[in-house]
Amino acid sequence: MAILHGGQLSRVAKQYQIPEKEWLDLSTGIAPFSYPIPDIPLSVWQDLPTISASLIDVAKNYYQAKYCWPLSGSQSLIEKLPQLWSEKQPLASHVYLPKVGYKEHQQAWKTAGYQLHFYQQTLPANIEQNSVVVVINPNNPLTDIFTIKQLSALQKQCHAQNSLLIIDEAFTDVFAPEYSFVAHIKAETTNVIVLRSFGKFFGLAGLRIGFACCSAEWFELIKHSTSPWAVNGPALYITELALNDKKWQTAQKQRLQKQSQKQQQLINSTLPILSIKSNALFITAFFNNAPAIYQQLCQHAVYVRLTDENDALRFGIADEVQLKRLAIVLMQCAKKPL
Ligand SMILES: Cc1ncc(COP(=O)(O)O)c(C=O)c1O
Repeated sequence: MAILHGGQLSRVAKQYQIPEKEWLDLSTGIAPFSYPIPDIPLSVWQDLPTISASLIDVAKNYYQAKYCWPLSGSQSLIEKLPQLWSEKQPLASHVYLPKVGYKEHQQAWKTAGYQLHFYQQTLPANIEQNSVVVVINPNNPLTDIFTIKQLSALQKQCHAQNSLLIIDEAFTDVFAPEYSFVAHIKAETTNVIVLRSFGKFFGLAGLRIGFACCSAEWFELIKHSTSPWAVNGPALYITELALNDKKWQTAQKQRLQKQSQKQQQLINSTLPILSIKSNALFITAFFNNAPAIYQQLCQHAVYVRLTDENDALRFGIADEVQLKRLAIVLMQCAKKPL
């Protein structure tokens, strides 16, 4: 069964019978400020795409990676990893996943027939031989982060158990580089794959590009498992410019941080929250009655993500204009408590 994500506004618009163009859509964790689309030479549209050495160099520099390979979104590899791991380890049958977190990981391993084990606050200890551990860092939607020290200890455990550690860093770009595990992948660290998403921080999710950062061995496996034209030419072109543009990246971090803080204050002061957690790409607010507040917001044409657990709402970050509209709606909601 298809998993419900943020986005897909048409479904909610139809349900509430409000035209799509009237909605404030904060249902995803995609930055509201997009990297400016440059003039793209005609040849980039005309030619079949090739992964250039210059793109790989720029990506290696941005991610601090020894080996990395572009994907048509990190989701494409999430779907493929069970098959790649099963080919490498035919006896593998266990996977450890965060109980709360981006559900596509769970779906992929479940479909491949793996036995699912769940953890949450504490990383799994005593894992089975040949198993797989998935860590979403920071967690989406919970925002929780495991430290490099914790991840290194887990990596060693995985190594000893001939197991694979997958770290999904889809939202890591807004943090300082030392929060990423990529730089800790050494020649001997053969059992870690870090997934990086391009679309969220750069506000261009429609480009469909992401990266796998890993050891030389996994690099070869992933490279050979992807179709030669998996990532389109314009995406490769724009990504090379964006990953090289340090000035834009610094400004993006600052404006996202600023908007996130303002929005958190607004939510705090208007809604009956139990607790609230945030980073510069999304804010997750917990409520006693999250589904009712979700409905109330939808009635005002504000679309946020109700968590699968029905205990929280995840708000994408609003730009200045969107924030003003959100403020009006939240103040109306505050005046008419449920
Ligand atoms: C935690 C997490 N990982 C991976 C993805 C996949 O993103 P993409 O395929 O755009 O890289 C998402 C998308 O929302 C996500 O939330």
